[in-house]
Amino acid sequence: MTDEIVLWGERLVAAGEVRISPWDRGFLFADSVYEVIPVYDAKAFLLEAHLARLERSLAGVAIARPWSRERGGELLRALVRANGLRDGLLYLQITRGEVRPRDHRLPEPAPAPTVFAATSPHPPPEREEAARGITAALVPDERWGRCDLKTTALLANVLAREEARRRGAAEALLVRDGVLTEGSSSNIFLVRAGRVFTPADGPHVLPGVTRDFVVARLEEADIAVERRTLPLSWIAGSEELWISSSGRGLVRVADLDGRAFPEPPGGGLFARAWDLFEAGRRAEIARSP
Ligand SMILES: Cc1ncc(COP(=O)(O)O)c(C=O)c1O
Repeated sequence: MTDEIVLWGERLVAAGEVRISPWDRGFLFADSVYEVIPVYDAKAFLLEAHLARLERSLAGVAIARPWSRERGGELLRALVRANGLRDGLLYLQITRGEVRPRDHRLPEPAPAPTVFAATSPHPPPEREEAARGITAALVPDERWGRCDLKTTALLANVLAREEARRRGAAEALLVRDGVLTEGSSSNIFLVRAGRVFTPADGPHVLPGVTRDFVVARLEEADIAVERRTLPLSWIAGSEELWISSSGRGLVRVADLDGRAFPEPPGGGLFARAWDLFEAGRRAEIARSP
């Protein structure tokens, strides 16, 4: 898209105008955080929650906030409008900024952060596709110790996903010390003996905005969700496995390394969760600015 508009700093410009220096610490050290925010009906979904998590990530790596939450929201909404985006994804990245010469030490005074955001079209969640499910593969979790911060240091996630793809799977489910942490770009839910579980928050789990939204909708409907350690051994005795993310919404895992999770009669708890998610999503979009 040559006429694509992006956010660069606080300016909306043609994508081709952006010049980011090779001395930017985002490029040199992955010294950088990001967000991916779904857009439905031309509105950013759960924007407040994404901006709150962005602030948490920035604080976690000591990068200054480039703007207030309100100003950030204004800029991102203006970007969506400028591209005439209806259904898609907003990608936002903030790096620590440009510093020369290259040096591991954090620069003093802090440089101005580099801010970049772009949009891309992406279809909204679709019930049949979500229920049909994806194939996933278990892959060792070789990421660093602060996966709760949404940084762009994603090489281990990229390689895990590639390993899954090599094995014919669409997502890698990560295993650390015999425990399921999350997907390479998604959170995990397990249904066991009719109860819903998801990993407890901690350093190896990203606090997923979609996951929190699904949990809240389930709890409103009096379906309890227990956040706890999920031992790998639990997979054998589980009836359902789901993943959630901003890009995919809520999706069933139909096959994990050849272990089938057939769709339960009537759709199981997944169907209930998906319908609650979808109704909540529509209501949230209807009241979003
Ligand atoms: C590692 C990881 N976990 C979980 C998620 C899901 O988070 P969210 O629902 O906020 O998109 C993502 C999203 O891309 C991710 O990269």
